[in-house]
Amino acid sequence: MSIIVVDNVKLNGRDGKVILDGITFTVEEGDFLGVLGPSGAGKSSLFKLLNRLLSPTSGEIYYRGKNLKEYDPVKLRREIGYVWQKPYLFGQKVLEDLTYPFRLSQEKPDMELIYKYLAQANLKEEILAKKPTELSGGEAQRISLIRTLLVKPRVLLLDEVTSALDTENTRAILDLILREKEEKNLTVLAITHNLEAFNFKKVLYLNAGQVKYFGEGKI
Ligand SMILES: Nc1ncnc2c1ncn2[C@@H]1O[C@H](COP(=O)(O)OP(=O)(O)OP(=O)(O)O)[C@@H](O)[C@H]1O
Ligand SMILES: [Mg+2]
Repeated sequence: MSIIVVDNVKLNGRDGKVILDGITFTVEEGDFLGVLGPSGAGKSSLFKLLNRLLSPTSGEIYYRGKNLKEYDPVKLRREIGYVWQKPYLFGQKVLEDLTYPFRLSQEKPDMELIYKYLAQANLKEEILAKKPTELSGGEAQRISLIRTLLVKPRVLLLDEVTSALDTENTRAILDLILREKEEKNLTVLAITHNLEAFNFKKVLYLNAGQVKYFGEGKI
């Protein structure tokens, strides 16, 4: 069974503008799918649909064979982790952001795991004492990715997570994502303009709200 099925989905904006139209594709468990296309193509809107932050105007989306509408949104968002294009951090300190997933499930924060992810993301432990507003764009992106991983999702939606990173840190983040993916058999959908670094074997190419290509191979 495909883990995600998107069936003829249409999304209109509040102003009636067509944002996505006739979107159909499937994702298999363990896939690493590149979601590509020019600015304004509808890539982030598609991720918002997959995370139930938006609902399709028509068409259906299924996760593990069940319509997305039938899931409790909070539980669904823990299974399908979404790292936003614009990092959203809310704590007084970074530590608060990274311990939030544990508070959510009333667990004791696993500081070992937090330190492990920080090291893999090329970040120093001192960052935990900083205010989120003091972080650089690239630091905020990495903290936001780590926070999502700490929730232990089964699917990762990555919206341009390396867009503010230099080559070395892009490599570090990609290694971290690929290691997590292999260890946990995660399914990963990644929006990026950095095709060289990501080297996808399977891609969904959107343009002006429509699927122009979906399949194996590079474009
Ligand atoms: N809530 C909304 N209401 C109306 N239009 C919207 C809404 N959200 C997004 N749009 C429009 O839909 C189109 C697709 O936006 P989206 O953010 O999905 O593009 P994108 O492919 O992620 O682009 P980028 O690469 O620049 O991030 C754009 O024209 C955008 O202005
Ligand atoms: Mg976008």
